[in-house]
Amino acid sequence: MRLVMLGAPGSGKGTQAERLSKKYGIPQISTGELFRSLRKGEQLPGMSLPQEVIDEISSLINNGCFVSDDITIQVIENRIALPDCENGFILDGFPRNIPQGEALDALLKKHSIHLDAVLEIDVPDDAIVDRLSGRRYCPACGRTYHLDAKMPTEEERATCPEGCRNLIQRDDDKPEVVKKRLVTYHDVTEHLKPYYKEQGKLITVVGRKKLEKTIRDVDRALESIEKNRIEA
Ligand code: AP5
Repeated sequence: MRLVMLGAPGSGKGTQAERLSKKYGIPQISTGELFRSLRKGEQLPGMSLPQEVIDEISSLINNGCFVSDDITIQVIENRIALPDCENGFILDGFPRNIPQGEALDALLKKHSIHLDAVLEIDVPDDAIVDRLSGRRYCPACGRTYHLDAKMPTEEERATCPEGCRNLIQRDDDKPEVVKKRLVTYHDVTEHLKPYYKEQGKLITVVGRKKLEKTIRDVDRALESIEKNRIEA
């Protein structure tokens, strides 16, 4: 299965991508996560960036701005070439504009592979700001939670080196940065919807409902895609 997750910041792309990655046994590739890992001293796959570029990326993310297309496309090119992507992958947060979409098409063509679907999670803006104000992550295990919708389970606590005790808020989840990210989503990223609709790849699921309902809708939407993929 090769899937792109599309949706506004906080629409639930990462939550669904993490779950689908386990379900289908394929990696979740989050460009946001990869960029954030630079702060922990990790390097991007196949790239060694000087500290001033890492600092610049960090500042762009904190302020809700895009990282350059050149770096982002190279990150994806290196990442999908790794052996764990042979049976598929879930792109979470890439592409985010038409040039990135075109670059992805070129990469897929180069590797003679194709996308099975682009799954859009549609959540209205008013719900996003509320939702992101409750999002927290655990710096020890990297899992994302929500103060109202998704707190750590006993199993998650048991498998985290610090028991998910210290949940913190992302810098770019402050309301003023969230509003800026939403404007960019509508002005830039949403152009990918007609782009993928024309390719017959776009599937939309409403993500405003309770998490359990969104999970059921996503699974139902992907069932026929998976069936067609296996039969092809
Ligand atoms: P990134 O990390 O990708 O941020 P994003 O796209 O803005 O998405 P988020 O991670 O904020 O939200 P999400 O949709 O994954 O929602 P989640 O599942 O956590 O990117 C960060 C930054 O990196 C960008 O701003 C940019 O600077 C840079 N970047 C990344 N990719 C780039 C690219 N391609 N080009 C250039 N720059 C790039 O859910 C949100 C919360 O809601 C959670 O707490 C969750 O528990 C909860 N939740 C989820 N679903 C539900 C539900 N149905 N009901 C109730 N609560 C729910």
